[in-house]
Amino acid sequence: MSSNHNLVWEVRNISKAFPGVQALDKVSLSLVAGEIHALVGQNGSGKSTLVKCISGVHPPDEGEIRRNGELMIMSNPTIARARGVATIYQELSLVPTLSVAENIFLGRLPQRARALLVDWETTRQLAVNTLRELGIQIDPNAVVRSLSVAEQQLVEIAKAISEESTLLIMDEPTAALGLNETRRLHALIRQLARQGKAILYISHRIDEVLDIADRITVLKDGRVAGSQPIGAWDTDSLVRTMLGTEVKEHYPKERHATAVPCLEVEGLCTESGVHDVSFTVNVGEVLGIGGMVGSGRTELARALFGVERPTAGIIRLNGRPVHFRSPEQAIAAGIALLPENRKADGLFFNFRGPQNITIARLSALLAGPFLSLRRETRFSAEYMDKLRISPAAMERTVQYLSGGNQQKVIIARWLFSQARLLILDEPTQGVDIGARIEVYRLINELTAMGISIILISSDYPELLAMSDRVAIMRGGRIVEITDASALTEYRLLEIASGVNGSAERRSNEN
Ligand SMILES: Nc1ncnc2c1ncn2[C@@H]1O[C@H](COP(=O)(O)OP(=O)(O)OP(=O)(O)O)[C@@H](O)[C@H]1O
Ligand SMILES: [Mg+2]
Repeated sequence: MSSNHNLVWEVRNISKAFPGVQALDKVSLSLVAGEIHALVGQNGSGKSTLVKCISGVHPPDEGEIRRNGELMIMSNPTIARARGVATIYQELSLVPTLSVAENIFLGRLPQRARALLVDWETTRQLAVNTLRELGIQIDPNAVVRSLSVAEQQLVEIAKAISEESTLLIMDEPTAALGLNETRRLHALIRQLARQGKAILYISHRIDEVLDIADRITVLKDGRVAGSQPIGAWDTDSLVRTMLGTEVKEHYPKERHATAVPCLEVEGLCTESGVHDVSFTVNVGEVLGIGGMVGSGRTELARALFGVERPTAGIIRLNGRPVHFRSPEQAIAAGIALLPENRKADGLFFNFRGPQNITIARLSALLAGPFLSLRRETRFSAEYMDKLRISPAAMERTVQYLSGGNQQKVIIARWLFSQARLLILDEPTQGVDIGARIEVYRLINELTAMGISIILISSDYPELLAMSDRVAIMRGGRIVEITDASALTEYRLLEIASGVNGSAERRSNEN
């Protein structure tokens, strides 16, 4: 590996335009063996486009990529991979119907047949070991569809890490991960850098970037707005460079909780592993739900939303027992779920932003017996403006929006739906800091209007700052409910992992 240590990848003057937008405008940066280079920027600033230009997904309009001075033309992802670029894309690219092991094999087909078998087995073993190092015991034979988003993300990471590469690119690898998984991943990334890989690391979590990077480059509107070694950055300068404005208050929490119950849950159980869960959410309250990957938070949300039928327990909404047989019934009763897996459960990719936003309350668009396009545009424009969704969403189908903008489209939908209880499963995942604060302000506005919120978040600072109370789940149960102000990140992690004393120690709970 030692020969890798002086390897330098250079991105020079890369530009890329899509219809109506200059996604990248003469972007240059160097990726040096042994260095963790973080790339940050607002939603739509061009990060993923740059990743795709380096990985052979998009041909750049101009500019070049050089490895130790040698020109590399990345005509397609296979060629990029063969030249030593391993990439974890922002959109998970696993095949849901195949097993974990099959997914790990996939994409390595272009090799000579005899090398194939041996290599696959080694690869599989490597990936399984990597998964173990990340602290996740995933059965290699499990079908990917049955895994949580976080677990899928870990499989994707394991797959890329186990590839032979000199440049490892990670586009928001921790978006769905909790603190513990993130720490393990960071330890692994540092180790890979020490072994001589160059690493390009993208994240919207600023603390995380400041913690792991050796150098940070900021993109703004497709251009490099700043690039400095880590010592030259702090939170303020980073946010200022990303947004172009100062941000004072990162968590503008307001308290609107009443003592009137909105949702009461008693002894709820599901086949998917929720055990005897009881809690109350009051009118205007934000109840946070914390826990590790696989602790049952998403399963609980799905049971409340009628996606899964409870096997035992009582759910009361505004004092009346409810039994939802489908999400439609939950929606009709005033519950909305912002799902964690937006690709599969959320967006209509072939529709434009406004249609995606208004679908949950079409009645508002009725002008007589007809749907009014004018109203669709007017209502959508209001929410798009509030959440600062890219104006491109008006004209283009959402598949062409950046990841963060897609996210905001779904948030807008549920805000528009006028639900009385909103379940937000990782609402700020992949959302940039500017828009994130907008989401927090909207949470304030909603609770002030008497809407109740269940906030599931793996971002512990966010969970503690924006919740009134926090319920901590472990192994499908709620193990503690307490005032958010009485918790610290460290304490939360201790309770969530079931480990006392050392948060780093391995927990075998699931
Ligand atoms: N395939 C595409 N077709 C058309 N426009 C695209 C396409 N991919 C990206 N864009 C546009 O290019 C710009 C840059 O998008 P990109 O996905 O690179 O942003 P990003 O920095 O990764 O954002 P995020 O933080 O939300 O992931 C955006 O305006 C986006 O809408
Ligand atoms: Mg992106």
